Amino acid sequence: SWKMENVLDEEIKVINETVGPDEHVICALSGGVDSTVAAMLVHKAIGDRLHCIFVDNGLLRYKERERVMETFERDLHLPVTCVDATDQFLSELKGVDDPEKKRKIIGKEFICIFDDFAHELEQKLGRKPSYLVQGTLYPDVIESCPPPGSGSTHSHTIKSHHNVGGLPKDMKLKLIEPLKLLFKDEVRQLGKILNVPEGFLKRHPFPGPGLAVRVIGDVTLGNYLDTLRLVDEIFIQSIKDAGLYDVIWQAFAVFLPVRTVGVQGDQRTHGHAIALRAVTSEDGMTADWYPFEGKFLADVSQKICNSVRGVNRVSYDITSKPPSTIEWE
Ligand code: XMP
Repeated sequence: SWKMENVLDEEIKVINETVGPDEHVICALSGGVDSTVAAMLVHKAIGDRLHCIFVDNGLLRYKERERVMETFERDLHLPVTCVDATDQFLSELKGVDDPEKKRKIIGKEFICIFDDFAHELEQKLGRKPSYLVQGTLYPDVIESCPPPGSGSTHSHTIKSHHNVGGLPKDMKLKLIEPLKLLFKDEVRQLGKILNVPEGFLKRHPFPGPGLAVRVIGDVTLGNYLDTLRLVDEIFIQSIKDAGLYDVIWQAFAVFLPVRTVGVQGDQRTHGHAIALRAVTSEDGMTADWYPFEGKFLADVSQKICNSVRGVNRVSYDITSKPPSTIEWE
């Protein structure tokens, strides 16, 4: 629309006026819509003085790294360094059960990797990067403003929920937040003008800690993560095939560290149970479980048990938020 065309031109102008001609900018891409559109805007304004990083923490969905890197490079021509930090993350997560501890560890590791990236860039460029791009939206800005008179001193900090856990300490990076006056649907419109593929712009939200909060308990046991990825992929693909992806806010599988008895062929099995969850929501604050037809659930269940080794039971989560949360951890 003309309105978003104007927003685009205006944003590019502002970024060009803000970032000096020799200054460099860094951006952590999560694979989500917001960080991608923010990076596209900055790239359009300053070209390859933007330096993006995408971290594979070993907690991503099936083929996620390959898929988003292809979009970044082939479709969007973004300059992205892909770091595979799977071993680093998983070794720190070994033996950790507590959901909040998992989140803390993941946040901390992420900052370490981002720090290294920024320092390596400094070596390469012979100067420190000056700015960090973040895909903060208007609702995030409101949410992180304390009510007047609360005496709180933190003004605009990054939510603990946010994908990026914090800033490199000694870099003194200034923030560029080109989306901070926009709502999600406006970001999607901008993305469209910037030629971000439609399918990418409609992706469901995905939590920063990734599959770590979707494998209950210690995520490093057995091949839990790989099993979860296969189950999740079948579920999502079935939802897309049924034309339901766009009416659902989030859908995913949860790996339960529970073994149950089954029978497959004429063999008794002692396999894992998994749960499927799909919800509708406006903003993630409240959510309703999605009422799939019985036939759909039966088909998905059968497909999962037939094709994913070690899984012999599928359950569907029929709890809304509240009283549950969307994620299981
Ligand atoms: P809950 O589970 O609290 O989730 O109902 C609400 C929304 O937030 C997402 N979520 C997270 N996102 N880091 C994130 O970046 C997190 O630690 C995190 N925990 C939950 C969740 O996927 C849902 O969209």
